Amino acid sequence: MSVREAILQRWSARKYDPNRLLTDEEIFLLMDAARRAPSSYNTQPWRYIIGVNFDDTHKKLLGILVPGNAEWAKDAPLLGLLVGSTKYPDGRPYRDYRNDCGMSLMSLFLQAVELGLSCRAIGGFYPDRAREVFGIPEGYEPVVAFACGKPDEPKREKEKKPLDEIVFRGKFGEPYGFGR
Ligand SMILES: Cc1cc2nc3c(=O)[nH]c(=O)nc-3n(C[C@H](O)[C@H](O)[C@H](O)COP(=O)(O)O)c2cc1C
Repeated sequence: MSVREAILQRWSARKYDPNRLLTDEEIFLLMDAARRAPSSYNTQPWRYIIGVNFDDTHKKLLGILVPGNAEWAKDAPLLGLLVGSTKYPDGRPYRDYRNDCGMSLMSLFLQAVELGLSCRAIGGFYPDRAREVFGIPEGYEPVVAFACGKPDEPKREKEKKPLDEIVFRGKFGEPYGFGR
C-alpha cells in the first residue's frame, strides 16, 4: 500500500469488531510507527499506555473515558492513552510537545490502515482520573486517548475543507490557487 492510499483510506471508525484481536506483531508495528515520528530536538516526548485485547489495562483505559466514548470504544481491541512530556530534558518548557505527540499518533494511525484497522482519537476523557489511575508523574500531561481495531461498520467519508481554504500564498487568506 502506498502512503497516498493509506492517507485516502484512513478514517475514524466508531464501531469495532471485538472478535478481531490484535497480534503481537501488529501491536509491534503500530507502536514502532509511533516511535519513529519527528520531534523537536528529537526529544520524543510521547509515552503510550496501551490496553490490548481486553486485558486489565484496557479496562482501566475504558474507565477514564467519558461515558459516550466508553460506550463505543469498549469493543476496540486496542485502547491507548498518549502522554506527553511538557519539558525538555534540561527542564525548559517544551512548547511543541502536543504537536510532536500528534505526529507520533498519526504515524500509528497510518500504519493501522495498512493492517486493515481503523483508529479514532478520543479527546473526551478525564485527565485527572488518568493521572491518578496510571500514576502519571509531574512533567507529563495526558494528551489524547485513542481506540483501534477492525471496523464493524462501512467507512464514513468525512468532508474535508478544499485546498484553497487552507493553503495560502502572499498573505493569510489568499488562496494558493491549485489548478491555476
Ligand atoms: C484531538 C482529537 C480528539 C477527538 N476526540 C474525539 C472524541 O472524544 N470522541 C469521538 O468520537 N471522536 C473524537 N475524535 C475524532 C474526530 O471526530 C474525527 O477525527 C473527525 O470527525 C474527522 O473524521 P476522520 O478522522 O474520519 O477524518 C477526535 C479527534 C481528534 C484529532
